[in-house]
Amino acid sequence: MMFWPQDTIPFLWGVATSSHQVEGGTDNDWTEWENSGHVAEKSADSSLHYHKYPEDFQLFSRIGVNAYRYSLEWSRIEPEPGQFSRQTLDHYRAMTQSLLDHHIEPLITLHHFTLPKWFAKQGGFFHPEASRLFERYVKKVMDAVGDLVRFYVTINEPMVYAAMSYGMGQWPPGHKNLKEFWQIGSKLLSCHQRAYHRIKSHRPDAMVGIANHLLAFSPYDNRSRLDRFNARIVNYLFNERFIQQARNTTDFIGVNYYSQQYTDHRHFWTPVVHKPNATLLTDMGWEIHPERLEELLLALKHFDKPLLITENGIATNDDILRQQFILDHLAAVSRAQNQGAIVRGYFYWSALDNFEWVDGYRPRFGLIGVDYKTQERTLRDSAYLYRRIIDANQGQWPINVPPKPGQPASAL
Ligand code: FCB
Repeated sequence: MMFWPQDTIPFLWGVATSSHQVEGGTDNDWTEWENSGHVAEKSADSSLHYHKYPEDFQLFSRIGVNAYRYSLEWSRIEPEPGQFSRQTLDHYRAMTQSLLDHHIEPLITLHHFTLPKWFAKQGGFFHPEASRLFERYVKKVMDAVGDLVRFYVTINEPMVYAAMSYGMGQWPPGHKNLKEFWQIGSKLLSCHQRAYHRIKSHRPDAMVGIANHLLAFSPYDNRSRLDRFNARIVNYLFNERFIQQARNTTDFIGVNYYSQQYTDHRHFWTPVVHKPNATLLTDMGWEIHPERLEELLLALKHFDKPLLITENGIATNDDILRQQFILDHLAAVSRAQNQGAIVRGYFYWSALDNFEWVDGYRPRFGLIGVDYKTQERTLRDSAYLYRRIIDANQGQWPINVPPKPGQPASAL
């Protein structure tokens, strides 16, 4: 049954980040991965958001967002098994309170790809007691900030985590193991379920979901029946299955949408990221297809749950392209809303430039640019555009978006 606290919660106009990507100074399984030479660049200081959040929240206010999605760093909260850091929990409480003081709704992610080193060493989510240990961490989080936070994402992109960490082996623990790739999903699901019940027992009015990375799959060769079949199977396994399995323990469906990929049955499990002749590519090499977001949102209608776009954004140094990207994707959201998709929020990825995993610091996703030498922040024109869209859509849905970037940025 669909529920949305619409009397108190307007459309969420947000921005998103994750702890390891922006905080700086994190010490987790990813830090070890970076230190053992698996990636070109180390996260190190990143954007120093852990310390500079007061300045960043002022910028968020200037952008006019009413929501912020960020993750709590489990490894800071529980650096050793069963030992919880009061200082870190106090830090996150102060940070969350500061958001509320800025009239910004917090949405907390509990797991965004990184793990405490001790937990990773014991097998991570394959630890026989993983769900109990995850729940213990979630309980501490609820004790520390539960009264301040209504929105929770338990797990970010379970399928991406499964694919990168256990299928392709590019992320820690670097396994390429089909069996583990299949099994990790159910491990994550039980962690999610226990976390869901823990959050709800603490706070029955909490809104809890998962941020699912949805990819729009197309057959590489539209005339090939096998490629078309491949697209349908992968769409089910990557996009739908987890959402279905978690449907009784989610209050909303989080959608992270970036791009389209092509299924080629000759390599069934590894779709092609972009076609050789693709013209519109981001700095990640991803194709730009806003219209597919509309389609993916409509495909979720049958779940009868509120939808939040928990991530959508572009890596580029061309801010005009970023502005058009935002407009086109918001227009797709608006069209989907007009056809009955219950989209209740949109979080641009990312609030500020950050550490993009194996791609390091090259991709620039931020509405706020960061000079990593000086840590100076600059609002990009796209931030001003976002502000204008938010101003024009105070709390209402379906949302309205102008078709073009429009007048040049003005000071806020
Ligand atoms: C998503 C991740 C996020 C970020 C963006 C670009 O898959 O959730 O951490 O890396 O991609």
